[in-house]
Amino acid sequence: MLTMTSFVIIIIVYSLLFHVYGLQQTSSHNIQEASSPFPSDFLFGTASSAYQYEGAFLTDGKSLNNWDVFTHEHSGEIHDGSNGDTSVDQYHRFMEDIQLMNFLGVNSYRFSISWSRVLPRGRFGGINYSGIKYYNILIDTLIRIKPFVTLNHVDYPQELEMRFQSWLSPEMQKEFTHLADICFKHFGDRVKYWTTINEPNQQLILSYLWGIFPPSRCSSPYGNCSQGNSESEPFIAAHNMILAHAKAVTIYGTKYQKEQNGSIGIVVQTSWFEPISDSFEDKEAAERAQSFYSNWILDPIIYGEYPKEMATILGPALPQFSSNEVKNLKNYRADFIGINHYTSYFIQDCLISTCTTGYGASKAEGFALKLDRKGNVSIGELTDVDWQHIDPKGFRKMLNYLKHRYPNIPMFITENGFGHLQKPETTVKELLHDTKRIQYMSGYLEALQAAMRDGANVKGYFAWSLLDNFEWLYGHKLRFGLFHVDYTTLKRTPKQSASWYKNFIEEQVNTRDLMDESYIFNL
Ligand SMILES: *[C@@H]1O[C@H](CO)[C@@H](O)[C@H](O)[C@H]1NC(C)=O
Ligand SMILES: *[C@@H]1O[C@H](CO)[C@@H](O)[C@H](O)[C@H]1NC(C)=O
Ligand SMILES: *[C@@H]1O[C@H](CO)[C@@H](O)[C@H](O)[C@H]1NC(C)=O
Ligand SMILES: *[C@@H]1O[C@H](CO)[C@@H](O)[C@H](O)[C@H]1NC(C)=O
Repeated sequence: MLTMTSFVIIIIVYSLLFHVYGLQQTSSHNIQEASSPFPSDFLFGTASSAYQYEGAFLTDGKSLNNWDVFTHEHSGEIHDGSNGDTSVDQYHRFMEDIQLMNFLGVNSYRFSISWSRVLPRGRFGGINYSGIKYYNILIDTLIRIKPFVTLNHVDYPQELEMRFQSWLSPEMQKEFTHLADICFKHFGDRVKYWTTINEPNQQLILSYLWGIFPPSRCSSPYGNCSQGNSESEPFIAAHNMILAHAKAVTIYGTKYQKEQNGSIGIVVQTSWFEPISDSFEDKEAAERAQSFYSNWILDPIIYGEYPKEMATILGPALPQFSSNEVKNLKNYRADFIGINHYTSYFIQDCLISTCTTGYGASKAEGFALKLDRKGNVSIGELTDVDWQHIDPKGFRKMLNYLKHRYPNIPMFITENGFGHLQKPETTVKELLHDTKRIQYMSGYLEALQAAMRDGANVKGYFAWSLLDNFEWLYGHKLRFGLFHVDYTTLKRTPKQSASWYKNFIEEQVNTRDLMDESYIFNL
């Protein structure tokens, strides 16, 4: 009996040991697999912009900006005829919105400065301290949520358009540098992340190539505008934006950075461009599409020169940097790049091959036709929004592409999100039950983690957007919020995605802690 008992005990102990050992094997394996690639200083945030959020368009001395004027004069061009006069009224409701961010558990908030609040007349008038005060209070109220501040997100005082045509004039470089200097001076003790200009590439195409954003300039056949030149003005305005960026970075680097200890970058819009075939021509076209889009801005900012495909195709329409400007661009390089990313396209060559006309096929866009289908195969999952295709694989490829083109430069994903197009029959219940957004975000966040494991140096992720807001030409009908906004009461209601994002962030923090413990244990 005794031997039998010992035998049984040995068996039990043995199997227990094996079980524990085996368990430890699998659990450490699971920890590796499940371990978050996000370091502890990674920023998880939500993004916004002044015109799309603040409202209060005539409050406390704010002047009219280009979008105030455009939405009032061209309300027919806004899907629902709406505007940013009130939008989600964050100017008056920021306390509540910060509570929503605390609910999410984010550690950063991306917002922009309304130029016409701080400098209503640019350099033609003084600082408006009511505007300074608003951002001071906003920044102070965020407390542990780090401000990530865009100096300019599409809006500028209309006076600068009237006086010298804004970005078409080098005067705008001086105006922007003035704005930047004032912001560094007043907010830089607390703001450690700055970006100069939001999405110059996308803004320039919409404003000066297609002419559908103010100042509504373009030429035929690109669009239907009363003035403009689609084959030269986008490049002139881009040149001024790039030099304005460089001057702001220089001011920051020489006057403030050492003392304030922050970093400064720029934000571009990116799309993944997949060659539609394996042909040399289509692969070159996909590369050219990148050059005429995000590389257009990033190459000069990082290397001091435009992509060579642009110089070849545009010839003298592409402005040149003087040798001093090149030196300055290289000496005062951005510390990081901000990446906005939403979608992918197939690209077909239109330079060498015959090709139908369409989005991207023109000279000013690099003769690279953007398509959402190859025969009956779509690029990712198509949505109700004609430009948004759900293709997380493309995001991973995009980040790897940027990693190779701009080695080692830190990246922040400054925008990524899903737009729900509200139709007449869409119910509030459907808007709140936003499983598509959750599917989109989980796919893109998984792709982000894969890219980081591939070696992409990504430091933060900002969901576009905290709230539904004024989505430019879509007005209030394209909803990107984690929180729903009722535009009659301005009441904010969490969508399912708000809880999803909260849990996602929590999980990253938890697996990181688990990882840290197992690391210590192994030591
Ligand atoms: C700033 O705004 C206030 C209203 O809050 C206005 O009285 C004042 O004239 C403005 N100052 C400037 C320089 O725009
Ligand atoms: C161009 O715009 C003008 C003025 O708004 C309008 O009358 C005309 O029909 C438009 N043409 C096209 C081709 O859209
Ligand atoms: C500046 O920031 C870096 C990293 O964020 C930190 O390690 C360093 O201690 C800071 N220096 C000062 C003077 O605050
Ligand atoms: C797509 O096209 C291919 C070849 O043209 C065909 O074999 C396939 O059945 C099509 N698939 C669908 C879903 O229509």
